[in-house]
Amino acid sequence: MGNGIAQVASRAGFEVTLCDVSDAFLDKALATIGKSLQRDVEKDRLGEREKREIIERITPSVNLGDLARVDFIIEAVTEELLIKTELFKQADRIAEPGVILASNTSSISITKLASATSRPDRFIGMHFMNPVPVMKLVEIIRGAATSDETFAITRDLASKMGKTSVEVNDAPGFVSNRVLMPMINEAAFALYEGVASPKDIDDVMKMGMNHPMGPLELADFIGLDVCLAIMNVLYDGFDDSKYRPCPLLKKYVDAGWLGRKSGRGFYQY
Ligand code: 3HC
Repeated sequence: MGNGIAQVASRAGFEVTLCDVSDAFLDKALATIGKSLQRDVEKDRLGEREKREIIERITPSVNLGDLARVDFIIEAVTEELLIKTELFKQADRIAEPGVILASNTSSISITKLASATSRPDRFIGMHFMNPVPVMKLVEIIRGAATSDETFAITRDLASKMGKTSVEVNDAPGFVSNRVLMPMINEAAFALYEGVASPKDIDDVMKMGMNHPMGPLELADFIGLDVCLAIMNVLYDGFDDSKYRPCPLLKKYVDAGWLGRKSGRGFYQY
């Protein structure tokens, strides 16, 4: 999602520093951005020159030290508490004191992530939806200590990036994944129990409820590892067995069948 966030920020006119752990990942991110913008060039919604300028405003970097020069930080690393906490501790040391740290986490507690830094009042959740260039929504999540000023600046930034925001208090899964993931998990249970085939389960939701994608197709799109991580956050966060992850979801993740990104999930790609 990081490349999508970089793309919309740059398209809104911001200078973007896109950090990742290796040049190979950065090259892949820039190629994805180029491909995504090309769709709009082909549809006459963007000129070739504008496309080049959007890409040029993005500076790829493998050096976290470059965060010393930025005004706002949006993190979008793997959905694991320890990895995110470690990164935020570093970002907190590097960034200027007033800079806001935002996390694109799908479900991890903003309050908990904020407490790893020296600036919990300048910490916030900024949860984009996939694919970022297409989906209008940003869920903005207030941690226990997030200040009103931090919220206002973040909402303004989301708006400048062309997104509509909703204000949400910190709770497991926020609103989006508290509602979406149990549906996906239930679809996995329906498959696990042999109620219907993946295609038929998806067709029910696509044609019966007008969802653009069926829940299993959507799970493959999001990543089954991400879906499982979010179910575990709901399960642990609410201490409620109704959120237990489906054994089939766990088994697929154990097998490395993570959805589109690995070539196999509920479907083969
Ligand atoms: N970059 C830029 N544009 C893209 C794009 C991308 N990666 N993918 C699709 N598009 C654009 C297309 O150009 C097209 O634009 P147009 O209609 O203006 O010409 C439009 O999106 C529709 O694309 P397609 O016709 O190629 O394909 P579909 O009609 O099948 O739409 C989809 C694809 C937009 C992904 C649609 O299937 C959809 O909305 N799916 C549901 C997505 C969803 O639910 N996302 C939320 C996931 S949950 C989440 O992200 C939270 C996290 O925490 C888990």
